[in-house]
Amino acid sequence: MKATQELKNEHHGIEQMLQVLDAISAKLGRGEPLPAEHMDGIMEFLTVFIDKCHHGKEEEFLFPALEAAGVLREGGPIGVLLVEHDEGRRLVSKLKQCVSDHRSGDQQAAVGIQETVTAYVNLLRQHITKEDTVLFPMADAKLDAVSDTVLFEDFERLERERIGAGRHEAFHALLDQLQGIYLDE
Ligand SMILES: [Fe+2]
Repeated sequence: MKATQELKNEHHGIEQMLQVLDAISAKLGRGEPLPAEHMDGIMEFLTVFIDKCHHGKEEEFLFPALEAAGVLREGGPIGVLLVEHDEGRRLVSKLKQCVSDHRSGDQQAAVGIQETVTAYVNLLRQHITKEDTVLFPMADAKLDAVSDTVLFEDFERLERERIGAGRHEAFHALLDQLQGIYLDE
């Protein structure tokens, strides 16, 4: 399905950003400074690319389409995934607070950043595995070609309206830049 393939491609980009975050957190643990200029872009990636765009496509279009096809919300995968999206939001706002405290000179905030990054990275990695191995195969089996086309068009519209033209490409450019800096050492 085109729609689930698009979400899988986004998972790949998200996993790369999680690796970058992990690398920055490890540097901080070794006493290196927090790269303020990169943290702004990363926080925007977490809030806009991951939450507004990617989770938006799942919550507003994919999950309702699956519910309409008979997949239960409570007691099924959708309920669990929604709870995990909320937990991700909570951790991102905690991380924002820690980064802001760290900028204001609070040395203890470095520990908070590392702990929150670890919790967020672990949460999202297992969440992505669940979607890739359980939810998307379920969607591929339950949704027909017409539903797939409707979903794909809904995804494109959400991206246009919510994050604007060209922004998706800008996020990928940021990802390439950060991977070059943090993952090729
Ligand atoms: Fe996802």
